[in-house]
Amino acid sequence: MHDILAQLEEKRGLARLGGGEKRIATQHAKGKLTARERLELLLDEGTFEEWDMFVEHRCQDFGMAEQKVPGDGVVTGYGMINGRLVFVYSQDFTVFGGALSEAHAEKICKVMAQAMKVGAPIIGINDSGGARIQEGVASLGGYAEVFQRNVLASGVVPQISLIMGPCAGGAVYSPAMTDFIFMVKDSSYMFVTGPEVVKTVTHEEVSAEDLGGALTHTRQSGVADLAFENDVEALLMLRRFFNYLPLNNRQKAPTLCSGDPADRIDLSLDTLVPDHPNKPYDMKELIYKTLDDGDFFELQPEYAANILIGFGRMEGQVVGVVANQPLVLAGCLDIKSSIKAARFVRFCDAFNIPVITFVDVPGFLPGTAQEYGGIIKHGAKLLYAYAECTVPKVTVITRKAYGGAYDVMASKHLRGDVNFAWPNAEIAVMGARGAVEIIFREDKSDPAKLAAREAEYKARFANPFVASARGYIDDVIQPHETRKRICRSLVMLRDKRVDNPWRKHGNIPL
Ligand code: HXC
Repeated sequence: MHDILAQLEEKRGLARLGGGEKRIATQHAKGKLTARERLELLLDEGTFEEWDMFVEHRCQDFGMAEQKVPGDGVVTGYGMINGRLVFVYSQDFTVFGGALSEAHAEKICKVMAQAMKVGAPIIGINDSGGARIQEGVASLGGYAEVFQRNVLASGVVPQISLIMGPCAGGAVYSPAMTDFIFMVKDSSYMFVTGPEVVKTVTHEEVSAEDLGGALTHTRQSGVADLAFENDVEALLMLRRFFNYLPLNNRQKAPTLCSGDPADRIDLSLDTLVPDHPNKPYDMKELIYKTLDDGDFFELQPEYAANILIGFGRMEGQVVGVVANQPLVLAGCLDIKSSIKAARFVRFCDAFNIPVITFVDVPGFLPGTAQEYGGIIKHGAKLLYAYAECTVPKVTVITRKAYGGAYDVMASKHLRGDVNFAWPNAEIAVMGARGAVEIIFREDKSDPAKLAAREAEYKARFANPFVASARGYIDDVIQPHETRKRICRSLVMLRDKRVDNPWRKHGNIPL
């Protein structure tokens, strides 16, 4: 019996060693942790339950029958993050470069299926050379099995991808279907075709980092949400981020009360908006001063910065924040910002997270680049997302809410539950200058007359009271009491129930 027990430990030791000491040293030399070290940092100490440690590939070709490593290049199982259940897989680059075989895919699919059964999030740590070349189509089949489960899990349990090494070819599509992607600077990249193929086909010379590194995807493409300096930072931030997520679509995110009073007022907000309507100000200041303890976990901060998205808490309850940022493009909605915010609103809606929207939007960004790029369809995504959203929606208009953008930004007409405006808000079809230039075209050659018309239009429409008179705004509030009024609204909305009509699924303008 003792022999058998010792053999088991020996077998386990072998599996834990993955591709061996030399390859582990190479991994460390690249500034990367191993698959197991990453799980140790991600999960609460001693909580990791490993599955399928002894799984081996079944490939016989190219001498593979003699090259078997227990676990086959991916470490899978479940554990806890801050005491809450999570399923994990972590690809082991020291074993065949983390390449995905049929057996490797089966291990991933097994934890995904179990996560869906018990209702817990899935975190995938990607570090892989892609399809296991020796296996051919079996490996492609394996990828597609993972993709199918990503889609079935979407909106059922949160899915998060950490990219901590190569992720190329079709392999990128599993992370792409998850809810959030975190990357590590200088050691991770994602692309559909690598630099060599790009050079052959388009004659462009580009490094892997420039083509698909963390900065590219968090600034240019918007594929990833956040970029971190190294593995450790990414894993520790993910542990923090996890606290904002519910385990599944039937639960609420955990409440963490901080003691920040719900009725805390902030007089500095009364002077946040400058007197001149075209002068920018930082919307983040309002966000920080409104949320519990000023704690805002921002996502995609460097992409489409004209809109801000992220999580925070109000009286301990997790909320999603969407806000126009007047500092960038005057807060206009454009293609990128519409898509960014739409996807975030849909996540919040799928996972029972109330949405707070701060509005200061002069409209949609004009121009051929936007029209040719399909702003009509992409802007409609945000409209669609807000309109189908049934979680509590609280909206505060801080200054401008013009035109179609007024409608889109969680207006009363899109089932905004509580719609506030600050006293200086301007809710109208367009700005006064643009409006009078159209409706009083005949006065265009007379600046004095036009100025008088503008002043008249401003006095009549550039305020929140026309919309309030129709009930589109529930109350005009003092800026300093914004937090208090939102907190009260959220308490009132705690048991909100509203269902959309039955359908197989809607047809969001993709
Ligand atoms: C099998 C692989 C592998 C793969 C790497 N290895 N990729 N084994 N299948 N796809 C092995 C190497 O042979 C090597 O084994 C070890 O992993 C480490 O690889 P290195 O090349 O030494 O590492 P590095 O220099 O860091 O380069 C990493 C790399 C490179 C950039 C990922 O290995 C590479 O280009 N690999 C091939 C990538 C690829 O073309 N994959 C298929 C893409 S198509 P030893 O024994 O020496 O340690 C695809 C389709 C998916 O993925 C479709 C889904 C629908």
